[in-house]
Amino acid sequence: MKVGIDKIGFYTPNKYVDMVDLAHARGDDPNKYLIGIGQKQMAVADQTQDAVSMGINATLKYLDQIDKDKVGLLVFGTESSVDQSKSASLFVKSALHLRPEVRTFEVKEACFGLTAGLIIARDFVRVHPDETAIVIGSDIARYGVATPGEVTQGAGSISVLVKSDPAILTLNDGHSAYSEDINDFWRPNDSKLAMVDGKYSTQVYLQFFENVFNQYKKDRKLETKDFDAIIYHLPFTKQGLKANRLAVEDQDETTKKRLEDSFEASKQLSMEVGNIYTASLYLSLLSLLEKSDLAADSLIGLFSYGSGAMAEFFSGNLVDGYKSQLDPEGDEAMLARRQRLTVKEYEDTFNKALEDPKDGEVLESDEVAGTWYFAGTENYIRQYKKK
Ligand code: HMG
Repeated sequence: MKVGIDKIGFYTPNKYVDMVDLAHARGDDPNKYLIGIGQKQMAVADQTQDAVSMGINATLKYLDQIDKDKVGLLVFGTESSVDQSKSASLFVKSALHLRPEVRTFEVKEACFGLTAGLIIARDFVRVHPDETAIVIGSDIARYGVATPGEVTQGAGSISVLVKSDPAILTLNDGHSAYSEDINDFWRPNDSKLAMVDGKYSTQVYLQFFENVFNQYKKDRKLETKDFDAIIYHLPFTKQGLKANRLAVEDQDETTKKRLEDSFEASKQLSMEVGNIYTASLYLSLLSLLEKSDLAADSLIGLFSYGSGAMAEFFSGNLVDGYKSQLDPEGDEAMLARRQRLTVKEYEDTFNKALEDPKDGEVLESDEVAGTWYFAGTENYIRQYKKK
């Protein structure tokens, strides 16, 4: 039985900062950000958008196209959790009016969270072929104003529906995984900002990529030239470019060009959004599907990396007619609706969002009608509302 991704929804908040503006404010050459890091814009979440609200908004992109009564599993992958006990997925389940029989929980392993959920969902659907699963990745990457990691921040969510006979991507059996207990990036419980050993993290990402990519090819008796595209977790697009360079070195010119072109397509949305941790690899997938013209059955390799660290390489094949499931104009309009903040406005918005509102204070959102947002706490219970 074929199981895989049937729907994909993307949400990013309504504010961004331009990388050229940021470079000028920090006294850096804009090309360091545009070329050296490979980012053009960075999404900014204000106090009213958190992992939960963004996850609801991403799922709403396709909710009216699915049979809600068939959803048997809802998994929420995040490292921007809003509660130490209660799963973010329960707020989502309530907002979306999913049935009480749904099994639902949150998973965490840095940026690997959505991938972990996807694999659980694939196996769930294998056992329950008449049911479907919603898997959400939703995160806000925060390193802090004027830190080296600042240019690699971002905010957004991807939600996928996993089902049998999917309409977008069938997931192949088999994977290669690699994990090690290391300290490249982490976020202690008392900190809203991530801590990172930046240069080290960029090196281990590449080492882990080589490990799992080579192992996957060996196990599955595949060669690099068998892939029509390889996509990556993109903490910033230059990092993926470096991994892709490793993938294509020593390849023939046709393979090189094909994998370079597909990488180019896969990085476009991330360049305008930034790092969205758990959802980043799946934003690469969405970008690849929207901005290239791959044929049905194309073999896509996926590299998932979560600091700490855990990496996995797996693959899928595109389903005939997959383009009809996408909404590139809608995604473009969502990016176009965003307000360009000055650097001062970004800093104020960013710092305000680090504060918890006083209990009882009601937050208002400046989002478009129909968008869900965090409206503050009542008796320390988080309130989510629809604009
Ligand atoms: P930095 O020290 O500001 O930057 O930190 P740099 O000096 O290394 O420069 C960056 C690049 O710009 C270099 O290119 C420069 O040469 C180039 P490279 O050598 O790498 O090819 N450059 C220029 N290019 C053109 N014109 C110029 C110019 N000037 C310089 N004028 C760093 C960069 C990424 C370390 C920092 O931003 C950081 O710490 N970011 C956060 C950590 C991170 O994203 N790590 C990625 C791997 S770990 C991961 O992916 C997991 C993660 O998503 C978390 C999770 O799993 O949950 C982070």
